[in-house]
Amino acid sequence: MAKITYIEHDGTEHVVDVKPGLSVMEGAVKNNIPGIDADCGGACACATCHVYVDEAWREKTGSSSAMEESMLDFAENVEANSRLSCQIKVSDALDGLIVRMPESQH
Ligand code: FES
Repeated sequence: MAKITYIEHDGTEHVVDVKPGLSVMEGAVKNNIPGIDADCGGACACATCHVYVDEAWREKTGSSSAMEESMLDFAENVEANSRLSCQIKVSDALDGLIVRMPESQH
């Protein structure tokens, strides 16, 4: 299991254990964490699972694919550490990961 901290825009933290193999988005949805809408269910086709990866974790979460980059164009307030959480696969190496949600996904 990987412990992931999801921080809502208002600062509310949710710390949950997520099974390796799931995506960071699925970890949030399965635990009813607000702030990640995931309208397309993880197909990299909606950009409503936008998160900001904590600086300390940017390298471990890797870089986004070309498809993810082009979907991120539809998200708002995109920063250098923006990712689509459905495209980050959870593994034991991500134990301790911290992501922050934007104010809105739409
Ligand atoms: Fe739709 Fe991630 S859930 S792009």
